[in-house]
Amino acid sequence: MYRYPVAEPDIGEEELRNIVEAVRSGWISSKGKFIDEFEREFANYIGMKYGVAVSNGTVALHLALVAIGIGPGDEVIVPDLTFAATINAVLYIGAKPVIVDIHPEYWCMDPDSVDRAITPKTKAIIPVHLYGHPCDMDPIIEIASKYDLYIIEDAAEAHGAEYKGRKVGSFGHVSCFSFYGNKIITTGEGGMVLTNDGELAERMRILRDHGMNPKKRYWHEVIGFNYRMTNLQAAIGVVQLSKIDKFIEKKRRIAKIYAEELSSTPGITLHPEMPWAKNVYWLYSILIDPSKAKITRDELSERLEKEGIETRKFFYPLHEMPIYAKYGIYSYPVATTISRQGLNLPSSTKLTEEDVRFIARKIKESVST
Ligand SMILES: Cc1ncc(COP(=O)(O)O)c(C=O)c1O
Repeated sequence: MYRYPVAEPDIGEEELRNIVEAVRSGWISSKGKFIDEFEREFANYIGMKYGVAVSNGTVALHLALVAIGIGPGDEVIVPDLTFAATINAVLYIGAKPVIVDIHPEYWCMDPDSVDRAITPKTKAIIPVHLYGHPCDMDPIIEIASKYDLYIIEDAAEAHGAEYKGRKVGSFGHVSCFSFYGNKIITTGEGGMVLTNDGELAERMRILRDHGMNPKKRYWHEVIGFNYRMTNLQAAIGVVQLSKIDKFIEKKRRIAKIYAEELSSTPGITLHPEMPWAKNVYWLYSILIDPSKAKITRDELSERLEKEGIETRKFFYPLHEMPIYAKYGIYSYPVATTISRQGLNLPSSTKLTEEDVRFIARKIKESVST
């Protein structure tokens, strides 16, 4: 247990009351009023028509890919710097992931690299809004329209983030969210796929429920899955959703304090927010340039750990891991550098202003002495 965790669930009495209500009602599996409410309200919050609640963010991606009809022989473009679930979902369906580099200024998929990676086999692009910062969607949408590709947004880390005033998760043909315990809102485990396409939503509902015909019980027309969310999870989700703006405000306040304290520290690059972006700073992150700071990223992480301050090193670039290396057919200078320099800092909504200032000062002290 760290005194200052990177993230932690922020769950209160209201969530508990809803869970008790769900348990007392007997609706503890995947039917019940909270599921419908959570799907409707979350879709509405992001600005999409339909929500399909599922058991986690990984299966959200898998379900979306299956429902769209992507499979063997198809290529799907993914960024080099992301959590492995993004590329794994592509591999589950037998399609070929194509890894592209990220942008140096905002750490998400680089649209120019996407453009260069298009082949006649490309079927979809999965932009990942990393650590709370949106991707640059306009050029990605332009490429997708030009080559008739699907956009599947991976918004697992960016609930409520905005691109040019519009929430991420409202740009793709589908968008996928995670409600894991460390996410901006949580249901314990959980996920959701959003879309404006009613037929696609219906297909995902059927696939989520064993591929069963909704009008003819135990009659299966497609090979489906059990990817359903429980009413208990959704009972937490609806309350969490009612607090989302408060959580985001807190994350942005934490970011502001880190930025104030660390802005002129040699060797530290702050978590960016591009002029077109609203970053929700899911995990406030910094880069430590070893040629300018007095210590390396890894040394800083160790030093902070001794003070009870948890940090996380950035994801490894996908192309470096042997199981994914063959999908890394380009060069990845940006992702490689940023992955080695990046550190996620404590970003829990339960941190006080004094906590964040204390952590920031410890960082400053450590990199300057
Ligand atoms: C970018 C990204 N995609 C997908 C996932 C998968 O979500 P889950 O853990 O709910 O399966 C996560 C995180 O956990 C993630 O960070």
